[in-house]
Amino acid sequence: MIVAMDEDGCIGRGNDLPWRLPSDMARFKLLTEGDGYNAVIMGRKTWESLPDAFQPLPARVNIVMSRDSGWSAKGAETALYAGRAIEIAYAAGREECWIIGGAQIYAMFIDVVDEIHMTTVHTSGSGDVLFPEWKGSEWKEEIVERIESDEGNKYATTYSIWMKS
Ligand SMILES: NC(=O)c1ccc[n+]([C@@H]2O[C@H](COP(=O)([O-])OP(=O)(O)OC[C@H]3O[C@@H](n4cnc5c(N)ncnc54)[C@H](OP(=O)(O)O)[C@@H]3O)[C@@H](O)[C@H]2O)c1
Repeated sequence: MIVAMDEDGCIGRGNDLPWRLPSDMARFKLLTEGDGYNAVIMGRKTWESLPDAFQPLPARVNIVMSRDSGWSAKGAETALYAGRAIEIAYAAGREECWIIGGAQIYAMFIDVVDEIHMTTVHTSGSGDVLFPEWKGSEWKEEIVERIESDEGNKYATTYSIWMKS
């Protein structure tokens, strides 16, 4: 799982990201793209929030979850339930499968993923979509890196990896 959230656990605003942080976007691309043999699973709303040029996210199998069996989009594989999303990733022989949000899809997979790659954005009150409740006490955090704000990145961020303990 990969997520960026502010200090209140906020991940989105008005079906968009509350911030544009190139440093974090670069990490998102690096991790989720890997060697070019990965899959990403996202909700239909997150898919719709992607800019046209990133529908689909390049060099990744894009699996989009929707309850609407009639929903389709060029470059997206539709999954009507969580198990189907995983099946599509495996059937395509993908090396890693990343859960990339949003809130509804994080909630669906939070108990099955074994790593959470989290960027904490050092601000608060960013918007109206929150990361779901999760049992942080069952996980161990390894802080990897803090990046200070600069001209391109309005807020400082801390990148950490949470692993099931
Ligand atoms: N900060 C971050 O790291 C990050 C990452 C990703 C997204 N976001 C933000 O998160 C927000 C979107 O999150 P969201 O929670 O509103 O939407 P979402 O999780 O992206 O998508 C929700 C949709 O997923 C489908 N869905 C939900 N549960 C399902 C199930 N059990 N089976 C099949 N399909 C299911 C439904 O699609 P249908 O309505 O078509 O049935 C539902 O409307 C945006 O603001 C986005 O920018 C933030």
